[in-house]
Amino acid sequence: MTDFTIRPFTAGEWTTWRALRLAALADSPDAFGSTLADAQARADATWQALLAQAVAAPEQLPLLAEVAGESAGLTWAQVEGGNAVVYQVWVAPDYRGRGIARALLERAIGWARDRGATVMELGVTAGDTPAVRLYRRLGFEAMGAPIPMPNRNGLHEQPMRLVMD
Ligand SMILES: CC(C)(COP(=O)(O)OP(=O)(O)OC[C@H]1O[C@@H](n2cnc3c(N)ncnc32)[C@H](O)[C@@H]1OP(=O)(O)O)[C@@H](O)C(=O)NCCC(=O)NCCS
Repeated sequence: MTDFTIRPFTAGEWTTWRALRLAALADSPDAFGSTLADAQARADATWQALLAQAVAAPEQLPLLAEVAGESAGLTWAQVEGGNAVVYQVWVAPDYRGRGIARALLERAIGWARDRGATVMELGVTAGDTPAVRLYRRLGFEAMGAPIPMPNRNGLHEQPMRLVMD
Protein backbone atom coordinates (compact mmCIF):
# COMPACT_ATOMS: atom_id res chain seq x y z
CA MET A 1 0.00 0.00 0.00
CA THR A 2 1.42 3.40 -0.86
CA ASP A 3 -1.28 5.67 0.52
CA PHE A 4 1.22 7.39 2.80
CA THR A 5 4.21 9.66 2.36
CA ILE A 6 7.44 9.84 4.34
CA ARG A 7 9.36 13.12 4.41
CA PRO A 8 11.69 15.07 6.69
CA PHE A 9 10.05 17.56 9.00
CA THR A 10 10.59 21.16 7.98
CA ALA A 11 12.06 23.60 10.51
CA GLY A 12 8.75 25.30 11.29
CA GLU A 13 6.70 22.17 11.96
CA TRP A 14 7.35 22.00 15.69
CA THR A 15 3.65 21.97 16.62
CA THR A 16 3.20 18.89 14.41
CA TRP A 17 6.21 17.20 16.02
CA ARG A 18 4.97 18.12 19.50
CA ALA A 19 1.47 16.81 18.78
CA LEU A 20 2.88 13.51 17.54
CA ARG A 21 5.22 13.13 20.49
CA LEU A 22 2.46 13.90 23.01
CA ALA A 23 0.15 11.44 21.25
CA ALA A 24 2.89 8.78 21.21
CA LEU A 25 3.68 9.20 24.91
CA ALA A 26 -0.02 9.13 25.85
CA ASP A 27 -0.69 6.08 23.65
CA SER A 28 2.43 4.06 24.47
CA PRO A 29 3.92 5.27 27.76
CA ASP A 30 5.97 2.09 28.21
CA ALA A 31 7.58 2.31 24.76
CA PHE A 32 9.71 5.38 25.39
CA GLY A 33 12.40 6.56 27.77
CA SER A 34 10.79 9.99 28.25
CA THR A 35 7.42 10.55 29.89
CA LEU A 36 4.28 12.40 28.88
CA ALA A 37 4.65 14.65 31.94
CA ASP A 38 8.18 15.65 30.88
CA ALA A 39 7.02 16.38 27.34
CA GLN A 40 4.01 18.37 28.53
CA ALA A 41 6.28 20.47 30.75
CA ARG A 42 8.63 21.38 27.90
CA ALA A 43 8.37 25.01 26.80
CA ASP A 44 7.16 25.85 23.29
CA ALA A 45 10.45 27.60 22.59
CA THR A 46 12.33 24.39 23.40
CA TRP A 47 10.23 22.28 21.03
CA GLN A 48 10.72 24.95 18.37
CA ALA A 49 14.49 25.20 18.86
CA LEU A 50 15.12 21.46 19.04
CA LEU A 51 13.34 20.79 15.76
CA ALA A 52 14.84 23.77 13.95
CA GLN A 53 18.36 22.77 15.06
CA ALA A 54 17.83 19.16 14.00
CA VAL A 55 16.46 20.11 10.59
CA ALA A 56 19.53 22.30 10.01
CA ALA A 57 21.98 19.62 11.20
CA PRO A 58 23.33 17.23 8.58
CA GLU A 59 23.70 14.48 11.20
CA GLN A 60 20.03 14.48 12.23
CA LEU A 61 16.90 13.38 10.41
CA PRO A 62 13.47 13.91 11.97
CA LEU A 63 10.97 12.10 9.72
CA LEU A 64 7.21 12.57 9.40
CA ALA A 65 4.70 10.08 7.93
CA GLU A 66 1.47 11.47 6.50
CA VAL A 67 -1.71 9.91 5.19
CA ALA A 68 -3.76 12.20 2.99
CA GLY A 69 -2.05 15.20 4.55
CA GLU A 70 -2.74 14.03 8.13
CA SER A 71 0.16 13.29 10.50
CA ALA A 72 0.35 9.53 10.98
CA GLY A 73 3.73 8.76 12.53
CA LEU A 74 7.33 9.75 13.05
CA THR A 75 10.85 8.74 13.80
CA TRP A 76 14.12 10.52 14.40
CA ALA A 77 17.52 9.29 13.25
CA GLN A 78 20.99 10.54 14.07
CA VAL A 79 24.46 9.64 12.81
CA GLU A 80 27.71 10.05 14.66
CA GLY A 81 30.74 8.72 12.86
CA GLY A 82 29.95 5.21 11.67
CA ASN A 83 27.11 4.76 14.14
CA ALA A 84 23.47 5.66 13.65
CA VAL A 85 20.73 5.75 16.25
CA VAL A 86 16.99 5.76 15.74
CA TYR A 87 14.33 6.69 18.27
CA GLN A 88 10.82 8.18 18.69
CA VAL A 89 9.38 5.45 16.41
CA TRP A 90 5.59 5.68 16.56
CA VAL A 91 2.63 5.21 14.22
CA ALA A 92 -0.86 6.36 15.22
CA PRO A 93 -3.17 3.40 15.98
CA ASP A 94 -5.53 4.14 13.05
CA TYR A 95 -2.65 3.86 10.60
CA ARG A 96 -0.86 0.75 11.85
CA GLY A 97 -0.37 -2.42 9.86
CA ARG A 98 0.11 -0.79 6.48
CA GLY A 99 3.90 -0.53 6.38
CA ILE A 100 4.38 3.00 7.68
CA ALA A 101 6.90 2.10 10.40
CA ARG A 102 8.81 -0.10 7.98
CA ALA A 103 8.93 2.79 5.47
CA LEU A 104 10.05 5.28 8.15
CA LEU A 105 12.87 2.97 9.23
CA GLU A 106 13.92 2.10 5.69
CA ARG A 107 14.18 5.81 4.92
CA ALA A 108 16.25 6.37 8.08
CA ILE A 109 18.49 3.38 7.28
CA GLY A 110 19.11 4.57 3.71
CA TRP A 111 19.89 8.07 4.92
CA ALA A 112 22.31 6.81 7.59
CA ARG A 113 24.05 4.51 5.12
CA ASP A 114 24.48 7.42 2.68
CA ARG A 115 26.22 9.30 5.50
CA GLY A 116 28.70 6.50 6.06
CA ALA A 117 27.08 4.74 9.01
CA THR A 118 27.64 1.00 9.11
CA VAL A 119 25.63 0.23 12.23
CA MET A 120 22.23 1.44 13.45
CA GLU A 121 21.30 1.04 17.11
CA LEU A 122 18.11 1.48 19.11
CA GLY A 123 16.61 0.63 22.46
CA VAL A 124 13.21 -1.07 22.64
CA THR A 125 11.16 -2.06 25.65
CA ALA A 126 11.81 -5.78 26.04
CA GLY A 127 8.92 -8.13 25.28
CA ASP A 128 7.04 -9.85 22.51
CA THR A 129 5.68 -6.62 21.07
CA PRO A 130 4.92 -5.21 17.62
CA ALA A 131 7.97 -2.95 17.98
CA VAL A 132 10.36 -5.84 18.65
CA ARG A 133 8.82 -7.79 15.75
CA LEU A 134 9.17 -4.74 13.48
CA TYR A 135 12.85 -4.32 14.27
CA ARG A 136 13.62 -8.04 13.90
CA ARG A 137 11.80 -8.06 10.57
CA LEU A 138 14.10 -5.27 9.40
CA GLY A 139 17.21 -7.20 10.45
CA PHE A 140 17.93 -5.70 13.88
CA GLU A 141 19.35 -8.17 16.39
CA ALA A 142 19.39 -8.04 20.18
CA MET A 143 22.69 -6.75 21.51
CA GLY A 144 23.43 -7.96 25.03
CA ALA A 145 20.97 -8.42 27.86
CA PRO A 146 17.94 -6.20 28.57
CA ILE A 147 18.73 -3.27 30.89
CA PRO A 148 16.31 -2.11 33.64
CA MET A 149 14.67 1.20 32.66
CA PRO A 150 15.15 3.91 35.32
CA ASN A 151 11.97 4.66 37.30
CA ARG A 152 9.93 2.11 35.32
CA ASN A 153 8.93 -0.72 37.61
CA GLY A 154 9.83 -4.01 36.00
CA LEU A 155 10.39 -2.64 32.49
CA HIS A 156 13.61 -3.43 30.67
CA GLU A 157 15.14 -1.93 27.56
CA GLN A 158 16.61 -4.27 24.96
CA PRO A 159 19.42 -2.73 22.92
CA MET A 160 19.21 -3.82 19.26
CA ARG A 161 21.58 -3.35 16.38
CA LEU A 162 21.41 -3.50 12.59
CA VAL A 163 24.62 -3.99 10.67
CA MET A 164 24.27 -2.07 7.39
CA ASP A 165 26.62 -3.27 4.69
C1 LIG B 1 5.61 -0.69 16.46
C2 LIG B 1 4.87 0.23 15.50
C3 LIG B 1 5.73 1.47 15.24
C4 LIG B 1 4.63 -0.52 14.17
O1 LIG B 1 4.05 0.39 13.25
P1 LIG B 1 3.27 -0.12 11.93
O2 LIG B 1 3.23 1.02 10.98
O3 LIG B 1 1.98 -0.74 12.32
O4 LIG B 1 4.26 -1.26 11.41
P2 LIG B 1 4.35 -1.80 9.89
O5 LIG B 1 2.95 -1.90 9.35
O6 LIG B 1 5.33 -0.98 9.14
O7 LIG B 1 4.93 -3.25 10.12
C5 LIG B 1 6.26 -3.58 9.74
C6 LIG B 1 6.62 -4.95 10.25
O8 LIG B 1 6.55 -4.98 11.67
C7 LIG B 1 5.91 -6.16 12.14
N1 LIG B 1 4.75 -5.76 12.94
C8 LIG B 1 4.32 -4.48 13.14
N2 LIG B 1 3.22 -4.50 13.92
C9 LIG B 1 2.96 -5.80 14.23
C10 LIG B 1 1.99 -6.47 15.01
N3 LIG B 1 1.01 -5.78 15.65
N4 LIG B 1 2.05 -7.81 15.10
C11 LIG B 1 3.01 -8.49 14.46
N5 LIG B 1 3.97 -7.92 13.70
C12 LIG B 1 3.94 -6.61 13.60
C13 LIG B 1 5.44 -6.93 10.97
O9 LIG B 1 6.28 -8.06 10.92
C14 LIG B 1 5.68 -6.06 9.77
O10 LIG B 1 6.40 -6.80 8.85
P3 LIG B 1 5.93 -6.90 7.32
O11 LIG B 1 5.98 -5.49 6.79
O12 LIG B 1 6.92 -7.76 6.69
O13 LIG B 1 4.55 -7.45 7.40
C15 LIG B 1 3.48 0.66 16.07
O14 LIG B 1 2.78 -0.51 16.47
C16 LIG B 1 3.60 1.59 17.25
O15 LIG B 1 3.67 2.81 17.07
N6 LIG B 1 3.60 1.04 18.48
C17 LIG B 1 3.65 1.82 19.70
C18 LIG B 1 4.94 2.61 19.86
C19 LIG B 1 6.18 1.77 19.89
O16 LIG B 1 6.20 0.67 20.41
N7 LIG B 1 7.25 2.34 19.32
C20 LIG B 1 8.56 1.73 19.31
C21 LIG B 1 9.44 2.46 20.26
S1 LIG B 1 11.05 1.66 20.39
